[in-house]
Amino acid sequence: MSVSIVVGVQWGDEGKGKIVDMLTDKVDIVARYQGGANAGHTVVVGSEEYILHLIPSGALHEGKKCMIGNGVVIDPSALISEIDELESRGHNMDGALFISSRAHLIMPYHKMLDKASESRSKGVKIGTTGRGIGPAYSDKASRLGLRVGDFLNPDDFMRKLNRALEQKNILFETLYGEKVVNAEEIYEEYMGYADRLKGYIADCGEILRNANASGKRILAEGAQGTMLDLDHGTYPFVTSSSSTAGGVCVGLGIPPSSITETLGIMKAYTTRVGEGPFPTELFDDIGEKLRKDGGEFGATTGRPRRCGWLDIVVGRYSAQVNGLTSVALTKLDVLDDFEKIKICTGYEVDGERIDTMPEDAEVLARCKPVYETQPGWMSKTAGLSNFDELPEKAKNYIDRVEELMGVRASIISTGKSRAATIQRNV
Ligand code: GDP
Ligand code: IMO
Ligand code: MG
Repeated sequence: MSVSIVVGVQWGDEGKGKIVDMLTDKVDIVARYQGGANAGHTVVVGSEEYILHLIPSGALHEGKKCMIGNGVVIDPSALISEIDELESRGHNMDGALFISSRAHLIMPYHKMLDKASESRSKGVKIGTTGRGIGPAYSDKASRLGLRVGDFLNPDDFMRKLNRALEQKNILFETLYGEKVVNAEEIYEEYMGYADRLKGYIADCGEILRNANASGKRILAEGAQGTMLDLDHGTYPFVTSSSSTAGGVCVGLGIPPSSITETLGIMKAYTTRVGEGPFPTELFDDIGEKLRKDGGEFGATTGRPRRCGWLDIVVGRYSAQVNGLTSVALTKLDVLDDFEKIKICTGYEVDGERIDTMPEDAEVLARCKPVYETQPGWMSKTAGLSNFDELPEKAKNYIDRVEELMGVRASIISTGKSRAATIQRNV
């Protein structure tokens, strides 16, 4: 029985795709448990770069199964494009990809509502990816959603679509003044997707439970990160799913007792895309240098990522919420050329020093970071795969991060490629 979880520690884009790809060698099945095509997971294999949005990052390994679990919201046209791209690049998905019949579908009106609510919102703007994620999860909770399994029964699909549209069209007309959505058009479009995706639909929960019982190894791939979790993140500046480790059991249909390991993926500094509080954000040359050296532009939307120093308050919080057994510290090489490196160890807010995560995003927005400063190593770690080869100051930085966080770094990533990885027995 062994399910390992890979979860983002910060606000997403920590390098989960690279690490999942690397760990796929050791497992039989890789399964996504939440999120949708808002995710952008980059995997580099040789000179080829892949950006995966819905298909798990294990897909580039032959002979492994990839699953899209019930907790994911699926945009079928995005999924088909992804399958087509992978197949055109020589990766056959037949027999490798399984899509849960219980996963909810993203409908055209979800994407319209997502965009409309962002563009018309007078109050809070979240800076969503515009992929329809929030509205799709809202419909799921309101019991108005259409699921992948509905593809297999066209009459049911139409009945459920009409029911959803009764409500959506009133909303579109009265609130947004948009045109009414046509059921027949959506039906035709989606039945085309159904034909294309039918062969991949499965009871993924059942397959995973059986695989687990027969000793197969499963890797649960998280999207987004702990601080974007609907409950535990910086609400309302979050995504609409449970991206933390707790989401795995619900999102895949497996019991908590099957979880054996939870690996947190943590960038050696911090980034965030979209709106919301970010205490260590830098607006100066250093922030610009992190963005440039780290290539910090969104893998899904191309937006520049906001950049800042490593925030250990976030790291500690994430370690506790997820029960991290170890971390993969990624993008260490991006810090190769900084004379001084800062680590945020606590916050000052309203005249008080705190070292735990405030529950309220408005309080977090008022928090000023308290830093300790480490000397930079000013030499190249990029591409290294052996811990002993790291400069002493880089080792000291890693030691200090581990000490402050209370979790060991079992993996250190020093570049995009599979080879640029240090694995340690900790
Ligand atoms: P994910 O969403 O967590 O999978 O991360 P993204 O793929 O959105 O963003 C991480 C980016 O950093 C990608 O472009 C990766 O190829 C790249 N990357 C991952 N690990 C490393 C690393 O250790 N060093 C460097 N320089 N780049 C890395
Ligand atoms: P990966 O898996 C970084 C952010 C958006 C926005 C908020 C809500 O690649 O780490 P949504 O479209 O989900 O309703 O947007 O969440 N966001 C991400 N930020 N990485 C991601 O995924 C993200 N997925 C969503 O920018 O702030
Ligand atoms: Mg990403």
